[in-house]
Amino acid sequence: MRPKRSPPGPAAPRLPRLRSAARNLLIRALRRRQTTRAFSDRKLSAEMLSELLWAAFGVNRTRGPFGDVGRTAASASNAQEIDVYVALADGIYQYDARQHRLELVVPGDLRALAISRGPSRADPGVNAPVRLIYVADVERLVHARGFREPGLRDPQVQRAYYYVDTGLIAANVYLFAAATGLAAWFHNCNRAGLAARLPLREGQRVLFAQTVGYPPRRPRGTRR
Ligand SMILES: Cc1cc2nc3c(=O)[nH]c(=O)nc-3n(C[C@H](O)[C@H](O)[C@H](O)COP(=O)(O)O)c2cc1C
Repeated sequence: MRPKRSPPGPAAPRLPRLRSAARNLLIRALRRRQTTRAFSDRKLSAEMLSELLWAAFGVNRTRGPFGDVGRTAASASNAQEIDVYVALADGIYQYDARQHRLELVVPGDLRALAISRGPSRADPGVNAPVRLIYVADVERLVHARGFREPGLRDPQVQRAYYYVDTGLIAANVYLFAAATGLAAWFHNCNRAGLAARLPLREGQRVLFAQTVGYPPRRPRGTRR
């Protein structure tokens, strides 16, 4: 692509080369951020799962905008309309960020529902220990305590907001994975299958899923 001619005005600031990443954990995580679609079946420790969920969409301030708590990911008018469900080998749980705990929603191994592939196509994340499922609650946007923004009642604006808000959570998960050596994969999911199993209210929409786990074990003697 040919560079565009700059309009008259100040010279653009020079961007120095990135310094050694060694001292900067965030730059290092950004360098490593990627989608990985292969997983080992190694479980995440309780500590790792706890940190993953907090990084994804935990409470990071008791006093956030509009009289509510603040979260690690931004949301439109601080509506916090995305719920994170966590599919593990023994059930699907809902992440309660305020109490920082998991609540069982449906027992049983339903991790396969977090993927939209047909039975003929293998699911590369089938062994992964954790599948996050992002569900929007439109009612929470409508009743957000933030500005009385008319857009919050417009279905098209609502859609834009809840997809953006999901992406911000997913980006946190990608960066947490990159920083801790986990593999992460954001993907479509079996929306109808999940909606049939999860006890959702009217106005709740299953949007996307994100598979998280350890990358596959390498045979001895091979380098990553
Ligand atoms: C909105 C969105 C939807 C995606 N859906 C899928 C999907 O259904 N299946 C899949 O394998 N990857 C999916 N991905 C992952 C992208 O293919 C991946 O992020 C892209 O190829 C760039 O690769 P990288 O994340 O390693 O930079 C999705 C990513 C986004 C942002």
